[in-house]
Amino acid sequence: MNHATKLPSKPWRVRAARCAIGGAIVAAAIGVSGCTNPERSRDLANPGINPAVTAAQVCSACHGADGNSSSPNFPRLAGQRAEYIEEQLKNFRAHQRIDPEGYEYMWGISRNLTDDQIAGLAAYFSKQTPQSNPAGAKVVSDEGKAIFENGIPDKQVTACQACHGPKAEGLGAFPRLAGQHQDYMVKQLLVFRDTEGRPGTPMKQITHNLDRKEVNAVTLYVQSMPAN
Ligand code: HEC
Ligand code: HEC
Repeated sequence: MNHATKLPSKPWRVRAARCAIGGAIVAAAIGVSGCTNPERSRDLANPGINPAVTAAQVCSACHGADGNSSSPNFPRLAGQRAEYIEEQLKNFRAHQRIDPEGYEYMWGISRNLTDDQIAGLAAYFSKQTPQSNPAGAKVVSDEGKAIFENGIPDKQVTACQACHGPKAEGLGAFPRLAGQHQDYMVKQLLVFRDTEGRPGTPMKQITHNLDRKEVNAVTLYVQSMPAN
């Protein structure tokens, strides 16, 4: 786990620049078909573009074309609850999610999205089939499982499954967590616990008494939970 890793700065711009020079090889390597429009990021301000096209041309660079990102820096969106995705995109757009990677990566991307585009992107990613996380497949954390299922009664930590569902499949605005990257979840739990970067959610209270070892254990377990 390395939270100090510097994320690539605005890779979609890099891609556009490379596209103009390097052509199809780079485009193919990152799974985007064709390279006819070197300034694709402009498409974000065009509400007429189909969400699936925006997803393939813009979001895929970080979140994966089908929302099953492989890099732990980028949260998985496949099968995520539509309501939750919608709410988060609106939070980024309204600058209400102020953790550093939130503003560095998602504020600009969400800036010009209309409510309809947001609803379309949320529907698109929520319908992609979530894959189990290869990083979690063989890992077992009994401590993490116990926290997920029962909470920590002595420390007033509520069971995660009470809101996120017994299979961490999520419900409504409670996000799906099964198979999410451990690094991403650790980072978010520390944002909830230690900062005001994601204000106004029950997670502040839930994480208040969680120590770092418990954070690691529960996220290790959740990452290993099967996608379906
Ligand atoms: C340059 C990389 C990049 C691109 C391109 C990108 N994202 Fe993100 N996205 C991120 C990062 C990094 C985060 C995590 C932010 C944080 O830690 O707060 C994120 C978070 C999110 C979240 C919140 C997920 C969660 O579990 O809370 C949603 C929803 C999202 N992105 C949707 C999109 C959509 C839709 C697009 C395309 C229009 C897109 N992103 C394009 C990097 C990117
Ligand atoms: C009372 C309901 C509730 C309980 C119990 C709960 N959560 Fe949450 N959790 C939420 C809500 C609501 C959100 C979305 C927060 C937001 O909108 O920013 C969330 C968000 C999260 C996120 C961020 C997901 C993402 O994609 O960014 C993680 C990780 C998480 N919870 C883990 C846990 C863990 C681990 C536990 C148990 C120790 C737990 N939660 C217990 C309601 C709950």
